[in-house]
Amino acid sequence: VDSKINSETIVAHYSSKQSTITIGHGIFNFLVRLLPYSKWDVIGAIISDRVYLLHRQTIDDSLQEINACIKGYDDTEYNKSYAYAESYFNYLLHNQFSRKSLLIGIGGGVTTDFTGYLASSYMRGIDIVYVPTTLLAMVDASIGGKVAVNIEAGKNIIGHFHQPDYIIVDTGFLTTLPVEEWKCGMSEAVKHAIIGDSSSLNLFLRREVSIGNVNESLYHCVKNSVHFKANIVEQDEFEKNIRSILNYGHTVGHAIESVFHYTLSHGEAVAVGMLVESYISMKMGMPQEDFEMIKELLLYYKLLPDISFSTSDIIDHMQYDKKNIKGTILFVLLEKVGKPVIGQEVPGTLITEALNYYLTMV
Ligand SMILES: NC(=O)c1ccc[n+]([C@@H]2O[C@H](COP(=O)([O-])OP(=O)(O)OC[C@H]3O[C@@H](n4cnc5c(N)ncnc54)[C@H](O)[C@@H]3O)[C@@H](O)[C@H]2O)c1
Ligand SMILES: [Zn+2]
Repeated sequence: VDSKINSETIVAHYSSKQSTITIGHGIFNFLVRLLPYSKWDVIGAIISDRVYLLHRQTIDDSLQEINACIKGYDDTEYNKSYAYAESYFNYLLHNQFSRKSLLIGIGGGVTTDFTGYLASSYMRGIDIVYVPTTLLAMVDASIGGKVAVNIEAGKNIIGHFHQPDYIIVDTGFLTTLPVEEWKCGMSEAVKHAIIGDSSSLNLFLRREVSIGNVNESLYHCVKNSVHFKANIVEQDEFEKNIRSILNYGHTVGHAIESVFHYTLSHGEAVAVGMLVESYISMKMGMPQEDFEMIKELLLYYKLLPDISFSTSDIIDHMQYDKKNIKGTILFVLLEKVGKPVIGQEVPGTLITEALNYYLTMV
């Protein structure tokens, strides 16, 4: 990569394989130098239609250098489906993709999940490279090897663990990202900061990162966040224990999402979840100043939606969460900021109190 460009490469050593992650601004232009492209017989890029429209020149130039063919993808959650995948499998077969071929997924988390699913299933698994173009895909969806598609009965039900061989995180793509999408990514980056990414926490507390601003601090924040998640996944790739700390804010978050029939963004729902779960943590021993810090961060980045709900609806939904064993609702709580604890049971009355706190606060 050009020495004038700020960039860094890390190699994550997972139990299943290793992933090479390069982070920088403008690095997609140097794709040809980032991938050992001659090792694959056919290379195909599956690209979000919107991203292609916005960044066509850069994408065409870089893909031409590695001789990749291009297939568009209308990246809606509806199209991240098991049913829609079949037409892409047919495309791959018609274009002579073999076990030695490569897929490159370019887009947000919908595109990386979908492309990752194709790669994990086609001929029992082929190589995959991600080029995440939303903040959420950069700090969350492209890291960790979970790939999945939806079926009518539920989201992310069909999938595998399939680690990407390379991840090219180019913050240059974020210059065209809408504010609402920034917030989704910020919510997960703030989550990482609260559960242990202390470098990013400092950037957030100093208000050095702001929504819509692709600056040096944002680059560092993305880099820290990626490092943080990759490090957790290195310790527990298949989510037997410590990886579940990444579900902080998600027990309540998932329930909020489904009670609101997915009309709120995932980031908003998780932000509500983080506030409610921090309130519970405080009542179970976390220092009050840590709670205030978390609350201020979520307010500063305007991540908390002004909503109203029935607390019992939320609690009912939590009982059905696929991550909960036999009706017991388990939480990731905080002993303090930077020290999450998994598998915590909470008295029902406290859950209600915490949800009510949210209702009076917003
Ligand atoms: N695999 C995992 O571990 C994991 C983790 C978290 C989320 N996910 C999945 O990720 C998906 C959500 O990802 P997302 O939030 O990135 O959503 P997304 O992929 O739908 O992208 C959001 C919107 O931004 C557009 N977009 C993408 N890049 C852009 C850019 N650079 N400029 C302008 N617009 C751009 C997209 O076209 C889309 O309309 C969900 O399906 C979720 O299940 C997976
Ligand atoms: Zn999430």
